[in-house]
Amino acid sequence: MNVNRKVLTLDEFTIQQLRDIPNATGELSSLLRDIGLAAKRVNVEVNKAGLVDILGDAGSVNVQGEDVKKLDVFANDQFTGVLKHGISCAGIASEELDDYIAFDDTESKKSKYVCLFDPLDGSGNIDVNVSIGTIFGVYRRVSSRGSIATKDDFLQKGTQQVAAGYIVYGSSTMLVYATRRGVNGFTLDPSIGEFTLSHPGIKCPPKGKIYSVNHGNFFQYGEEVKKYINICQKKNKSDGGPYTQRYIGSMVADVHRNLIKGGIFMYPGTIDKPKGKLRLLYECNPFAFIVEVAGGKATDGKRRILDIQPTELHQRTPLFIGSKDMMEELEKELEG
Ligand code: AHG
Ligand code: MN
Ligand code: MN
Repeated sequence: MNVNRKVLTLDEFTIQQLRDIPNATGELSSLLRDIGLAAKRVNVEVNKAGLVDILGDAGSVNVQGEDVKKLDVFANDQFTGVLKHGISCAGIASEELDDYIAFDDTESKKSKYVCLFDPLDGSGNIDVNVSIGTIFGVYRRVSSRGSIATKDDFLQKGTQQVAAGYIVYGSSTMLVYATRRGVNGFTLDPSIGEFTLSHPGIKCPPKGKIYSVNHGNFFQYGEEVKKYINICQKKNKSDGGPYTQRYIGSMVADVHRNLIKGGIFMYPGTIDKPKGKLRLLYECNPFAFIVEVAGGKATDGKRRILDIQPTELHQRTPLFIGSKDMMEELEKELEG
């Protein structure tokens, strides 16, 4: 029998990483294992979404006034449930819930971390078989261990993230996560049901040829943003052009592609929505952390995303994120 032990599973990888850290308790590995487990369950449902009655609206509207799809509810329940019953998470906050949940059982109260997530990102794409995802950020709690988690544990700056990651349910299913030590990607091998290391040490190329923005909103953007988009469109060969516009409408898939290939993703404020659409805590902070660790940059047009002090769980922010050189070119335009 040919047993291939070159495969490194997510579990093995996180444990291996911890061996080098003195006094590590293994709690982060256990939390990532729980996230991997919830992701596998969501993956099964996403894959059979066309077969069962799980498509379509759940009949309710979420806290931000958007229709909630059934799979959003399912994904939210899976991540919340797995983290609640695990031993490493003191509480969660989710895009789909009005308020945070502090777990009040003894094991959870002893835990070091809280987790914030967008359980299903790009849910408008579910019905049409286009990639969707999950996004998460992990913080060390500021309240004391043994007590119940508090709101301050969730309203921390993105710089305080211990780890952040995402899962893309795409042509294959991938889990990518970052700690300060690096960004690593794992592909789900359906034959063994394990995430296995496939993209070690991901670095975001400093330059790329892709810009991603919702062009339908073009006339709603500020003059500087419009000018930058025009620059992207007018790039010629000697400037590294022509650039290509790619926009799936699932941030997870759009930023994942740009992280690997190099590129810039923008969700600017518009006249109608000056703060844009994306949520600081569930979408922007995790990606800003991942992309920065990979060598890229993320801003709201003025400030580094990770430096923004959140004041509300569901606050939104404009987002510009991607390859370092492209971001610097954009920053020059935004400064005027
Ligand atoms: P969600 O499905 O969690 O509400 O997020 C969808 C987000 C994001 O994934 C995507 O980049 C953006 O919405 C697309 O919005 P527009 O259709 O306005 O471009
Ligand atoms: Mn989302
Ligand atoms: Mn969502």
